[in-house]
Amino acid sequence: MIGVEAASESNGGDDEASVPASTQAYAPKWRRTPARSVLHPMTWKEANEWKMQTHNPLRKQQDAEIHGSTRSRKHSDQATPELAHNVASHYNQRQDVGTEARKNSPIIGLKRFNNWVKSALINLYAPPESEDQKGIRILDLGCGKGGDLRKWDQQHVSEMVMLDIADVSIQHARSRYTESSLPWDAHFFVGDGFRTPLDQLVPQHLLRPMFDVVTMQFCLHYGWDTEENARTMLTNVAKWLRPGGIFIGTIPDEETLFGRLEETGDATALEFGNDEYKVEFDIRYAQGDMPFGNKYHFWLKDAVDNVPEYVVDWRMLESIANEVGLRLAYKARFDQILVDGYQNKHLRHLLRRMNVLDQSVTADGSVAPNVTPSLWEACTLYVGFAFQKDDF
Ligand SMILES: C[S@@+](CC[C@H](N)C(=O)[O-])C[C@H]1O[C@@H](n2cnc3c(N)ncnc32)[C@H](O)[C@@H]1O
Repeated sequence: MIGVEAASESNGGDDEASVPASTQAYAPKWRRTPARSVLHPMTWKEANEWKMQTHNPLRKQQDAEIHGSTRSRKHSDQATPELAHNVASHYNQRQDVGTEARKNSPIIGLKRFNNWVKSALINLYAPPESEDQKGIRILDLGCGKGGDLRKWDQQHVSEMVMLDIADVSIQHARSRYTESSLPWDAHFFVGDGFRTPLDQLVPQHLLRPMFDVVTMQFCLHYGWDTEENARTMLTNVAKWLRPGGIFIGTIPDEETLFGRLEETGDATALEFGNDEYKVEFDIRYAQGDMPFGNKYHFWLKDAVDNVPEYVVDWRMLESIANEVGLRLAYKARFDQILVDGYQNKHLRHLLRRMNVLDQSVTADGSVAPNVTPSLWEACTLYVGFAFQKDDF
């Protein structure tokens, strides 16, 4: 086992000569540490720093195993609260079915559209180049299986740091990166980005220079259970983002969640949805009454099985974001992002290339995505946003 010496003992001038020979059960002649010094296992942070110092590219596979096994043990046995553990196991259990099987998914239209929306946010808001022209540095918080890696190829990227609480997902993400032969470096970490300061999960030298972009796609709402977690998460986003840097993300839209519950016409209704998706609340609160911990279960055909999520109170999100130096630059529901993105030549081209549109424009001048009306209802549950870090 990798170990480091207990500092107090090894620095204290203790040596073999001061230990009576009769008490030494084992007294090797060439030992390098003083007798009675104790070996402790490395902490996760120390192991990371040690690993990063070595920087041997041939060690990549081994590194992934270190990250995966050590961290998941820590999280599942001690540190991870039940909620985070449940989310991690849900995503760990979901198989990466591969490109061909993904195409046959019954919700392929939604997946393509969501992917396009993420590409739109990247293309419209992420800077194509860093200030020093060396390429942008990106933090992907809640990166999952690394499905967004290739979406950055229009930007000049120099480095990505990928973090997720699900260790199996991180292993997939790492393999996907290796297979993609992308021309930038990527580093993968397993950790709870809502409950742990980022500098305890990622080695210092990967946090500087600061990130040009932090991306959090379909993830932030899992961390809206308590104010403390929401603050830790947004501090993790803002603290390592350079002045003028961009934070982009996607979450379920609070207005739409409350609106659709209203539309059921039943004042006591706890759920809404259709054959493709379902949202079921534990308790019905009025909008704004429960800014954190307003829990619901989300089911999406062929994707998400009743995982607990939390309504993200937008006023609260924006207020904490402002406190940590983030200013709103853009917020739109996904249907509006389609309209906005359609104005952009590259994104219009991407809509066709990614098979998102049935036909480019309908008779009334609007664009028609290639999904059933039921699935479109699931698509339009979400908003995308961009914040900019104060430039001072
Ligand atoms: C719906 S998936 C989205 C994955 C990816 N961002 C994408 O758009 O394809 C949500 C991800 O958030 C991750 N996640 C949830 N809670 C987390 C936490 N506390 N810290 C880090 N990642 C978390 C999950 O493990 C999962 O991979």
